[in-house]
Amino acid sequence: MARKFSTDAGLASNPPAAHQAARRGRPRVAADVAVNDPRVCLPRKKPAPGSHITVWVTGRARAETMARGDLRTILAMLRGPGSAASHAGRMEALYRSQADGYDRFRERFLLGRDELVLHLAPPPGSTVVEMGGGTGRNLERFGDALESFRAVHLVDLSRPLLEVARERRRRLGWRNVEIVEGDATSWRPPGGEPVDRIYFSYSLTMIPDWFRAADNALAILRPGGLLGAVDFHISRKRPAPGRARHGMLARLFWAAWFGRDDVFPSPDILPYLEARTEPVHLAERRGRIPYLPFLRPPYFVFIGRKS
Ligand SMILES: C[S@@+](CC[C@H](N)C(=O)[O-])C[C@H]1O[C@@H](n2cnc3c(N)ncnc32)[C@H](O)[C@@H]1O
Repeated sequence: MARKFSTDAGLASNPPAAHQAARRGRPRVAADVAVNDPRVCLPRKKPAPGSHITVWVTGRARAETMARGDLRTILAMLRGPGSAASHAGRMEALYRSQADGYDRFRERFLLGRDELVLHLAPPPGSTVVEMGGGTGRNLERFGDALESFRAVHLVDLSRPLLEVARERRRRLGWRNVEIVEGDATSWRPPGGEPVDRIYFSYSLTMIPDWFRAADNALAILRPGGLLGAVDFHISRKRPAPGRARHGMLARLFWAAWFGRDDVFPSPDILPYLEARTEPVHLAERRGRIPYLPFLRPPYFVFIGRKS
């Protein structure tokens, strides 16, 4: 069945081969693409310019394209953020070459974001802020409710990811979403408007002065509003009763593993958020790393109310 062309799809302009692959039980999809699309290899008999042809995409071609995208992302992560003097410069360097594949890879890596959004549940008319919002992928998690919010501010200082967010806003026709290049430790909403929900999704561990960012968020939030965070996490040596305890080796391993990409899971983030708010939801879980199923990084999902 013909499917709309997606730039994610691997393309094979060889229908017989794809039919054979299909008969052998391999997955395949067909894409309807413009023949002047430069990514398409045309059949020997050229169709008229502007006409459309059906291009068969084998499951294998698609998987290969995805693996290439993942490889680019993994190489960028291995290279790390470089040595720019400013934090913003390092964020830009880290994400410049992986902005395109960012969402696909992080969907399998940054877990708990649906849970965070579910528990934030902003009512219609809310003002919502995501600090370190990156590509804006999390805003899609609000579904149709997003349109009912009074205003949404997505704040980040990585220009390559903000570009993806702007493109997403254009494509999805979001009219109430403002995309701001700004620092989570100091950004304030225009006109000091009261904020009902403010959250950090895997950004607190990337902000060197995360306590300033948390304080700033609480200053912006109206009393009774919710502060949310989901992030990688290591426990204290002696965590509070009932909390996950990570052994010394695990704590050292995850600090070294994430530190390469300027991600610094701190044993103090979660206790700080708990101390500064009235906790309403807390879960500590184990995540996943694409291609490395034996590694399960700990993460938390937290929601607290400002009293
Ligand atoms: C791992 S990404 C998470 C992006 C997004 N929240 C998500 O869940 O996909 C962390 C983000 O935090 C941003 N960031 C780091 N330090 C920041 C700061 N001081 N102010 C604003 N954003 C920051 C980075 O640019 C990056 O986009």
